[in-house]
Amino acid sequence: MSTTKKIFGFMLVMITTFTVLLSCCSATVYKVGDSDGWTAKDDTYYNWAKGKEFHVGDSLVFEYDRNVNDVTQVSGALELEFCDSSSPKAVYNTGNDVVTLKEPGYHHFISSNQSQCTLGQRLDVLVVHDPSRPIPPPLPRKILPLGQIYKVGDSEGWKVYDSEWSEAKQFHVGETISFSNTTMKSTMF
Ligand SMILES: *[C@@H]1O[C@H](CO)[C@@H](O)[C@H](O)[C@H]1NC(C)=O
Ligand SMILES: *[C@@H]1O[C@H](CO)[C@@H](O)[C@H](O)[C@H]1NC(C)=O
Repeated sequence: MSTTKKIFGFMLVMITTFTVLLSCCSATVYKVGDSDGWTAKDDTYYNWAKGKEFHVGDSLVFEYDRNVNDVTQVSGALELEFCDSSSPKAVYNTGNDVVTLKEPGYHHFISSNQSQCTLGQRLDVLVVHDPSRPIPPPLPRKILPLGQIYKVGDSEGWKVYDSEWSEAKQFHVGETISFSNTTMKSTMF
């Protein structure tokens, strides 16, 4: 094979690969909160994220008033629940941030402005890896004082027994404990 032919063949392979990549995995850009943007609105983000399927490579656009808010990515559901921005994974504060979802699993975002976060400015999204995989059943993630559903181990799932996870929570009769894909009603807590 001549060098020219080799180069041509190589280029053909590259172009084909590129085309396949582009057509199979085009990333989606989601504007958080749609026209409302990123702001304190009761329940908005739970409902906004519901029914959407987020994939690795997709992006979230946060538009907000940077004088009162920011976008603080926190590491877990507890930080989200308690509006704890003391050890963030990332902080964005331009007022118009594009956050690319780079890894599968739960991503938690809050406003570091405690009052805004408490009012509902917090979002968690579940990012899935393979676009061809079926959508996992959405875990109820609503923050409610009663009848709350806890995912054991939060984003870590049910792997090794972790007393820290349960110590920080108070369980009530009637709540549901979710072991990733099996759920049971608690009656003995
Ligand atoms: C937090 O948000 C409130 C509006 O809910 C605003 O009045 C206040 O200035 C903000 N605080 C900070 C530190 O930006
Ligand atoms: C739980 O999930 C695992 C892996 O996703 C699967 O192999 C297993 O069959 C599931 N169990 C139930 C009870 O659905």
